[in-house]
Amino acid sequence: MGTTGWGNFWQDQRKSFYAVMKMATGYFVSKFAKQYPLQPADEIFDYGCGPGFVADSLSGKLQVTGADINDFFIEECRKNHPASRFFLISTDTAANKKILEETLNGKQFDYILLLSIIQYFKSTDDLNEVIGLLRTYLKPQGKLIIADVLDENTSSKKDAVSLFVHCIKKGRIGAFVGFISYLLSSDYRKISRQNKLLLVSEQTIRSIASRYGFYCEKVNGLTLQKSRSNYILGHASVK
Ligand SMILES: C[S@@+](CC[C@H](N)C(=O)[O-])C[C@H]1O[C@@H](n2cnc3c(N)ncnc32)[C@H](O)[C@@H]1O
Repeated sequence: MGTTGWGNFWQDQRKSFYAVMKMATGYFVSKFAKQYPLQPADEIFDYGCGPGFVADSLSGKLQVTGADINDFFIEECRKNHPASRFFLISTDTAANKKILEETLNGKQFDYILLLSIIQYFKSTDDLNEVIGLLRTYLKPQGKLIIADVLDENTSSKKDAVSLFVHCIKKGRIGAFVGFISYLLSSDYRKISRQNKLLLVSEQTIRSIASRYGFYCEKVNGLTLQKSRSNYILGHASVK
């Protein structure tokens, strides 16, 4: 997996996305925790953890480990969650294999999360490699969640409406306006013209899942943006 325009974009990000990202991540965690009652002993590996909003939402409830390609985000996570492990990865899966081996030392998790990250991968081959990499770190009964996936049914207009409605309900219209004006005036717009966000079909997710001996369930309603998809994968042998 090489560094693409999106990889470079995310490595350079600081706080520009915080308000909306935090809201969307908090929404996901509340829906997810309702559907899969989490136990205090459960451990989560948040791959592409960003500034640690999953850890913030679950703080004190269970242990979150995180990895991201952005060193500023990792520093933020470490500052806010000094007792947890957050570490830097790259956009290269072979390099990440070594980093995960050295950092996680064979540890396995109850949940591994890929939340709002696969749209920034260069191709579905990258997703295939990442799932292959993460498979080893999932407990036999564990669940690998791929959430906020863009596919052929995703509509940016519908997503903007669901975000807008949520911001109104939460009295956070300023966050919505800030987000949209950032999207229109920043590098995001330029990069998204040159590097389309990756669309991943249900069929592709299912075929990658089956390649690694995972079952795959499509789950509705986990994310704020309603035209995106969510999948739960787990070892088929223990379902
Ligand atoms: C929209 S943010 C989501 C952050 C976090 N998952 C959340 O939902 O709060 C996308 C994140 O994916 C990370 N990212 C982008 N490309 C990545 C890659 N190839 N491998 C791992 N993380 C990546 C970015 O650095 C960024 O933190």
